[in-house]
Amino acid sequence: MSARPLLRISDAANGLLAAAGLIVVAALTAPNFGPGARLALEGVLVGIWGVYALQLTDTLVALRTKDGPAPMSEFTIDLLAVVVPLAGFLLAGPQDQSLYCGIWLLKPLRHSTFFRLLGRVVSRAAPNLVGVTSLFGIVLFGASLIAYLIERDVQPDKFGSIPQAMWWAVVTLSTTGYGDEIPQTLAGRVLAGLVMMSGIGIFALWAGILATGFFEEVRRQDFVRNWQLVAAVPLFQKLGSAAFVEIVRSLRPRVVPAGAVICRKGEVGDQMFFIVEGRVSIATPSPTPVELGPGSFFGEMALISGEPRSATVSAATEVSLLSLYSEDFQMLSSSNPEIAEIIRKTAEARRGQAPKG
Ligand code: CMP
Repeated sequence: MSARPLLRISDAANGLLAAAGLIVVAALTAPNFGPGARLALEGVLVGIWGVYALQLTDTLVALRTKDGPAPMSEFTIDLLAVVVPLAGFLLAGPQDQSLYCGIWLLKPLRHSTFFRLLGRVVSRAAPNLVGVTSLFGIVLFGASLIAYLIERDVQPDKFGSIPQAMWWAVVTLSTTGYGDEIPQTLAGRVLAGLVMMSGIGIFALWAGILATGFFEEVRRQDFVRNWQLVAAVPLFQKLGSAAFVEIVRSLRPRVVPAGAVICRKGEVGDQMFFIVEGRVSIATPSPTPVELGPGSFFGEMALISGEPRSATVSAATEVSLLSLYSEDFQMLSSSNPEIAEIIRKTAEARRGQAPKG
C-alpha cells in the first residue's frame, strides 16, 4: 500500500497547523516566557515544520508522477514553508530564528478558491483600479503640495517639506486622522476638509470596482455551471445557440435533499422544474406514486393553466433541479414554440390521467 495518503493533510488541518505555528511565532516575540516555555514553543514549531516537510515530499511525488493535482503554486508554497524556516535556523541569530516560520502565512493559500477568485477579479478590474490609484496619487501629491505652501511658515517642523506634508495627506485622505499633524491656518483646514471628502470618494470607488468585479465573476461562474446543467436536459438540446443562452440565464439551479417536498398539492404554482439529476416522486391519486428522473420536468400544469398544483411532489433521492419562472416560460414560448408545445402536450396528457371532478 502506498504511504502517500498518510502524508496528505486536509486543507482544514493545513490552515489549523499554520494558525498554530503563527501564534507560536507571535508568542515567542513576547519577553515574558521562561526558557522552559520557550523550548516547548520551539518544539511545536519543529513539529509543524516536520509535518510540512512530509507534505512537501507528497507534493514532490505528485509532481513527478503527475498523480493528483499538484500545480506549481502549491509546490512553491510547500517548498518555501520548509526551506525558509530551515534557512532561518541556519543563518539567523537565535532570537530571530522563529520569525522565518512567518512564511507559513502562505499555507492557507494552497487550495484557496477565494484567492484565485480575487486574482481574477483584480486582473479583470486592473485598468479601473489603476485609474483610481492614479487619482489617489494625484490628489495625494496635489494636497501635499498645497498644504506645504499654506502651512510651511506656520508649522515648519511638520509641513517643512513636501514629503512631511505627504504623511499628513495620507493620514487625512484615508480619513484615519492620527491628529499628529493638524493644519493651523483657515486655508489649511478648508484643504483638510476637501482632502477628507476626496478620500471618502476614492475609497468608495475602489470598493465599488471590487464589489462589481466580484459580482460579475460569480455571475460568470454561475453562467458556466448553469450551462452545463441545462445542456444535460435533452429538451433544451433542440435549442439554437441564442435561445440556449437565453434559457441558461433564466433557469435557476437548486438542489433538494431526499425526502423534502418541492411543491404541495393546492399551492399556487409560479414555476416549473427540470430534473438534472436524481428522482422525484409525484403523489398522484393512483395507488403507486409516479416517479420522474433526469431529463423530465414537472410543475408545468399549474404554470400553464394558472390552477393550483395538482399533486404534491417530493424528492425521492437528492435531486438537482432547474426552475423556470412563469415570465421566463412566456419568453421561452415565444422564442421556441416547439419546446413550449412539448411542455403543453405533456401537461394535457397528465391532466387526462387525473380523475375528473
Ligand atoms: P403541477 O400541477 O403544477 O404540480 C404538480 C405536478 O406533478 C404537475 O404539475 C405535473 O407536472 C406533475 N404530475 C401530476 N400528475 C402527473 C402524472 N400523472 N404523471 C406525471 N406527472 C404528473
